[in-house]
Parts: sequence; structure tokens; C-alpha cells
Amino acid sequence: MRIYTKCSNYASDTCPCVLAESGHCIVCSMCRGEDFCDCSDTSGFCVMQELYNNGGKARDQHHMMKCTVTYETVFDDTIKLIRLNIPDGEIRSFTQLGSFVFIRVLENTFYDVPISVLYEEIDLDSIELMIQLQGIKTKCFKNLKKGDTVFLRGPYLNGIQGLKALSSLHNSKSLVICRGIGLFPSLYPISQMIKNNNDVKIYLDQGTFSKTLLRAAKDLYELDIEEISIMDPGGRISSQMYAIIDDAIKQDVKLIHFGTSDHVMKQLIDHVEEKSGRNVALSCINNSHMCCGEGICGACTRNINSQKIVHLCKEQMDVYEYGKILI
Ligand SMILES: Cc1cc2nc3c(=O)[nH]c(=O)nc-3n(C[C@H](O)[C@H](O)[C@H](O)COP(=O)(O)OP(=O)(O)OC[C@H]3O[C@@H](n4cnc5c(N)ncnc54)[C@H](O)[C@@H]3O)c2cc1C
Ligand code: FES
Repeated sequence: MRIYTKCSNYASDTCPCVLAESGHCIVCSMCRGEDFCDCSDTSGFCVMQELYNNGGKARDQHHMMKCTVTYETVFDDTIKLIRLNIPDGEIRSFTQLGSFVFIRVLENTFYDVPISVLYEEIDLDSIELMIQLQGIKTKCFKNLKKGDTVFLRGPYLNGIQGLKALSSLHNSKSLVICRGIGLFPSLYPISQMIKNNNDVKIYLDQGTFSKTLLRAAKDLYELDIEEISIMDPGGRISSQMYAIIDDAIKQDVKLIHFGTSDHVMKQLIDHVEEKSGRNVALSCINNSHMCCGEGICGACTRNINSQKIVHLCKEQMDVYEYGKILI
């Protein structure tokens, strides 16, 4: 079986990228040196032609920017909200569906951490990020103060799997299930679904890390969220969770979005497949380990059935198939 993926970067202002220049484009078979064009992304943007027009070179790629912190606050000692001022002319579109940035406090690039963009104010050249302070990279943000400088590159666009299903959902019903910090990469998709006149039902399991997630989401983003326990005391998916999903499928929900760990997401995706026969569209957050975000370093790659290497920092998959490669 052929595994189809799409590139989240396709036709963006950084396309063609270094992958096209070096003969490894995800979309264009001609750029990969094949004789026949089997381009499946036909929205009128020909990567080969654009590469030719650009003298065979990649377009300007993401470069590191120095940004100033304009606001910061900490919840529960574990989650930090920061607002950043983006240098003049660089704001571009930081909040597209799936947008995330690589950010660090220290000069050393090893500390780059992928974080989703929650919110942007173009007029103020400002973006907002919510960071869970958990390990060596994220704990560096703990003492960050207003006026400090951070290093940022982006926006990258593959922070969500199922972008097409999300962007095409209008005047329908959707169900959102999140656990812990998985809520925040899901915030922009939620706001877009609401904007597109969808009836969005949101459930959150606060997880074990912070007990103020629910309050933060309600106070800051005025979301109507119901609290649940996704897991039962034995560590299995709770019957309450399965009942909510089954009920939503019966109520003709058109899309289900998951913002949880991969382990939980895999079980929930399998359950939806069993109950709906893939008739419900899915989207989910992308928890892959990322380093360059450009399809180069290999940190995010998965080998699918020894047939194809997928770069999860860039490639969009069918979410039911994506569920199969989650561990
Ligand atoms: C597209 C994307 C968007 C994200 N958005 C947010 C967000 O909005 N807020 C937030 O708090 N976190 C977000 N994360 C997760 C965040 O990047 C990790 O929590 C962070 O990298 C942890 O690094 P650490 O050194 O502090 O912790 P560690 O102790 O090294 O790791 C803690 C957890 O993060 C995972 N992790 C470690 N390094 C990476 C990496 N380079 N890429 C992805 N996961 C990693 C580990 O497997 C572990 O589960 C996002 C991750 C991705 C891929
Ligand atoms: S993060 Fe480097 S190839 Fe995907």
C-alpha cells in the first residue's frame, strides 16, 4: 500500500525549501529527479517551476530572530505564559493552523524547543506562548522577565496533524479532547473551529502536572470547557471517555480533535476507527521530537513499514494512519 503524505510547507513563503533544492521535495517528483510529475498537491503552485524561477535555489528559510518579552506570568509554578514582541516586518502569519516556533533563552542552539503559537496581535507585532516548565530546555524559561531577550525561529506549520479536515470544517459539530499541556497547542484550532461557526464541545483532563490549566483556559481564553478523567485509576482509558466519544459519533459529530499524549491518542484514534469506520474526520496535536523543523536532521522521522521515511516536522498524514505509527 502506498503511503501518502502532504507537506505543510507547500506553497508557503518558504517553498521551495532546501529539500526541493537538494532533490528531496516531499511533494514534487520532478524535483526528486523523476521523469513523471505525480504531484498530488494541485493548488496551482508548481514547486518545480518556482524552484526554476528562483534560480534553482531554496527561498529564504527561517532565520533566528531576537525577540523581547513584553509580558510574562507563571501558573502553579509549572506553566509560563509569555508574550513576545516580534521584530518589525517579521510577524507574517504566526498563527496559521498548526503554527509553532522554536524558541530558547540561551545562545546555544541545543536548547531550541518547539512551542505552539496561541495567539498573535499583528498590530502590536506580538505573539503569545504557553510553556510547561518540565525539563532542561523549558525550565530555562522560568526566570524570564519582561524586557529579556529570547531567540526564536519560525513560524513552522506542522504542529497539528489533520490540517485539511480542521480548516474545511464549517457549520458543523466537533468534539475536542485534551489532557494537560496538550490543551494549548489545541487552542488555535479550537478558536478557528468556533470562528467557522462550528458547535465545539471541549473536554479537558488536567493531568498530573498542573491543577490550574482549567482556570487558565477559562479566564484567559473564555472557553467553555468540561473537566473529565480520560484515564481510570488502573491507567486505562475510562469508560466515561469512551461513552463521550460514542455519544458524539451517534450525535453526528463531523470532527474529533485530540490534544493528548501519543499513548492516549493512539487508543482513542483506534476506538473512533472501530466505532465510526473512519467516517468521522480527525485531527490531533503533533508531539514528535523535533530539532531542525526543516526535514533535515532526522529527529522526527518515522520509518513506515520499511516503505517510506516520514518527516513528522513537515509531513501531513491521514490521522487514522498516523495513529498506527504512534507508540
Ligand atoms: C509542534 C510542537 C508543539 C509544542 N507546543 C508546546 C506548547 O505549546 N507548550 C508546551 O509546553 N510544550 C509544547 N511542546 C512540547 C515541548 O516542545 C516539550 O515539552 C519540550 O521540548 C520539553 O523539553 P525539556 O528539555 O524541557 O524536557 P524533557 O525532559 O527533555 O522532555 C519532556 C517531554 O518533552 C518531550 N520532548 C523533549 N524534547 C522535545 C523536542 N525537541 N520536541 C518535542 N518534544 C520533546 C519529551 O519526550 C518528554 O515527553 C510542543 C512540541 C511540539 C513538537
Ligand atoms: S525535526 Fe529535523 S527532520 Fe524533522
